[in-house]
Parts: sequence; structure tokens; C-alpha cells
Amino acid sequence: MATNPYSGLDLLATPVILVDDELRVAHVNPAAEDLFALSLRSISGQLLAQLFIDSAELTACLEDVLGQNWSYTGRDLILTRPTQASQHLNCLVMPIEDSAVRFLIEFRPIDQQLKLAREQRQFDQQQANRELIRNLAHEIRNPLGGLRGSAQLLERELERPELREYTQVIIKEADRLQALMDRLLTPHRPPKFAALNIHEVLERVRSLVLAEFPDRIRIERDYDASLPDLHGDKEQLIQAVLNVVRNAAQALNGTGEIELRTRAARQVTLAKRRYKLALELQVIDKGPGIPDELRERIFYPLVSGRDGGSGLGLTLSQTFVQHHHGTIECDSEPGRTCFTIMLPME
Ligand SMILES: Nc1ncnc2c1ncn2[C@@H]1O[C@H](COP(=O)(O)OP(=O)(O)OP(=O)(O)O)[C@@H](O)[C@H]1O
Ligand SMILES: [Mg+2]
Repeated sequence: MATNPYSGLDLLATPVILVDDELRVAHVNPAAEDLFALSLRSISGQLLAQLFIDSAELTACLEDVLGQNWSYTGRDLILTRPTQASQHLNCLVMPIEDSAVRFLIEFRPIDQQLKLAREQRQFDQQQANRELIRNLAHEIRNPLGGLRGSAQLLERELERPELREYTQVIIKEADRLQALMDRLLTPHRPPKFAALNIHEVLERVRSLVLAEFPDRIRIERDYDASLPDLHGDKEQLIQAVLNVVRNAAQALNGTGEIELRTRAARQVTLAKRRYKLALELQVIDKGPGIPDELRERIFYPLVSGRDGGSGLGLTLSQTFVQHHHGTIECDSEPGRTCFTIMLPME
């Protein structure tokens, strides 16, 4: 089989269509296949105008380019594939001198641009928050040692033993703060990557949570056993998933069912990069769901809806998943909460 000279475009996260002199489709990259829900094989050689219900605006762009022979950005194009919702797109058309191809058309979904800009803002905000918290944690941790040591010395000098109750409070609270500061400061250990099997990670999490919540929590597995190994830091991934599963067990109040599910996902974009293969890992519970007022903020540090919660579990999970170039998202309503972790498998 001859190799396709345009397959280099297939790695782009941006949807691209190539058309020839007669405005017939010469190539469609996978991002464009996804965007317009079509396959190159079935439309190759078709007229571009036949792909969309009303393509007058798009073909007008191409004619403009032909007239001037330079690239042209058609703004705010609305394109509709038969039986699908309309798409709001920016498109850039470039003329090409090639025997088989006359135009390269690049599409930028406008909603997606807004989404990417929002994600970038959130990411920057999170980085700034974490930096602030980290600095604060350092400042708090330093004097804690002094505080605790002095309370111990004081305790030895106390003549009335009943006063020890007070020094013990100081020591215990100092220890509690110390543990909290340690958790705030840990995620910056650089990950150590090695080949690993995701199901070993899940089995480990499963046994830890079952030990912590004996008797009334059931953890069902729905694994895709054909998944290849993943490159990652095993301890970090265990911690990332454990925090999510433990939350689910806590939300269920220790009674009920949690499902762990793995699947392969093809052609996905994670943190702006496109991957041919990724792991989709879901943790699903039938608990009460995440309260409305928390839903947007659960990944922020120190946000908790639980008595005694420190609000760091999901922040850590997200940090570890980001170290693996993946994403973590949550979809929740009363009766069903689903956390989805996506990790690239290349
Ligand atoms: N599966 C779930 N169902 C309902 N609420 C959840 C679920 N997972 C998380 N939450 C909510 O999100 C909050 C934040 O979770 P996170 O793990 O970050 O902190 P935490 O559990 O409160 O404290 P920590 O994990 O540090 O001990 C929880 O307090 C809880 O209110
Ligand atoms: Mg938690």
C-alpha cells in the first residue's frame, strides 16, 4: 500500500482538511474526523461542498484565496454536518502548490478555544495558589519544631502532673499541623517513571480501601485486561487513585458499592497534546454526590465538605495526574459520582 504523503498532519491536535483543484477532499486528519464525525475513507474524493448542509461561506473562503493566492482567515463560520449539531468555527485557508492538493483548511472550534482559554486560566490560578500555599507551609513548618520542643522541655519541669494535659495539647496539635504541612509540601518530589500495569495499581488501592472500610464497602472491577503497560510513577498513581476511592467510600458513609473501570481511549487530546492511545480510568459511586456549592472547587487545596477533611486529597490527585500529563475530571449528581482520570499511554 502506498503511504499517504499527508499522514504527517495526523499528529496535529488541530482539525485539518486538504482539498484539490476541483475542491474534492484529498485528506482529512484524525482531529478533523473527530470534529466532523466522518472518516477519511468514506469521504475521500467527495466534493467539499457535499460534506456540509450549507457550505456556501466555506467555498467563498476558498474562492477568495484563489483570487489572491494568500492565506485567508474566515471568521465565525457555522458548519453543519447532516444529522449533527452545527459547529461554530474559525477557519484558516492556505493555498498549496502541489499536484494533488490545492488548499489546506485548518479549523478552530470557537467553543473549544474558549474552553482552552478557561482551562489555561484555571491552570495558572492553580499554580499560583499552590505556590502561595507551599510558601506558607514552609513558614509554618519552621517554627513548629521549636514550639513542640519547648513544650516537651516545659513538660519535664512541671511540678503538678495534671498540668501535663496542657503541654500534651500543644504537642499533639503541633504534630497534627506538622503532618498537614508535610502533605502540603510532598507533591513536589519529581516522579520516577517506569513501566507499570494499571490494574496492579487499582488492586493495591482496592485492598487498602477495603482494609480501611471493612464489611460494608464493595468494590467492583470492570477492567479491560488487554490494556498495555503504562509509563508512570507507581506510588504517585496509587496515591492519586486512593484519594479518589477513599473519598467515594467516605461519601458512601462506609456502606455501598464503588466501581473501578478501565478502558482504552483512542485519539484524545490531553493538556493540549494529542495522543493515539490513552487510558480512561473511572471511579464511580452511587453516593449522595458532591454538594453544588463545592462542585467547581473540589480540586482546589483546602476545600473540603467533610468534617475533619483537610481538602488536600483531590489537589494531590490532580498534581500527580498532571505529572503524568493526564487529566482528572468529575461528573456528579445525587446518586452517581464519576471521577475520570485520563493518562496518555505513549
Ligand atoms: N465521591 C464523592 N462524593 C461526594 N463528595 C465528594 C466525593 N469526592 C469528593 N467529594 C467532596 O469533595 C471534597 C474534597 O475532597 P478532597 O479529597 O480534596 O478533600 P477531603 O476528602 O475533604 O480531605 P482529605 O482528602 O485531604 O482528607 C470532599 O470533602 C467532599 O465534600
Ligand atoms: Mg479526600
